[in-house]
Amino acid sequence: MIGNMSLKEKSIVFIGFMGVGKTTVAQLVAKKLYRDFVDIDEEIEKEFGMPTTEIFKRIGEKKFREREKEYVLHYCKQPLKIISLGGGAFLQEDIREACLDHSIVFYLDISWDSWKERLHMLVDSRPVLQNKSMDDIKDLFNARKSTYEEHNSKLMTDNFNEEEVADYIIDSLKLAWDIHE
Ligand code: S3P
Repeated sequence: MIGNMSLKEKSIVFIGFMGVGKTTVAQLVAKKLYRDFVDIDEEIEKEFGMPTTEIFKRIGEKKFREREKEYVLHYCKQPLKIISLGGGAFLQEDIREACLDHSIVFYLDISWDSWKERLHMLVDSRPVLQNKSMDDIKDLFNARKSTYEEHNSKLMTDNFNEEEVADYIIDSLKLAWDIHE
């Protein structure tokens, strides 16, 4: 037992840069483990009834970050959830602390070279990428890396598809659960 929740009951939180595949992988892991899936961006979008880009434009990033914190702090303390965080969430210290205290934090890593191949698919739906040069985006990518270094487990995803990543994560979780039983 760690804290008042056993390791097996703890929620699993996925972190990593935009477009690394957190949502897809988390959905697959949730399905394979018969757990509830929670996407923090989707919760905020539902609340405001508009996509993230619109929330940033019309309501502002500050409010988005406040709601993001509320939702993450709420869900990461609940048992048996599989949670996908937005790529900027872990910049907030309260979010980092709560997730690391209450849940299992999985960092999905990707190299810059692999990530930049995906940029064209992401730019329209990601407000923090808009009106930025490639150099600006690379700086953001590198700056975020150090934030994600606080995690419980990490996987470099470059050479795997999302199904393979999900299976690897489930195998490593089962191993950890067995050891701590
Ligand atoms: C953000 C990442 C997005 C979303 C918002 C801000 C960021 O989530 O939360 O656009 O600051 O990195 P994804 O990581 O799911 O793209």
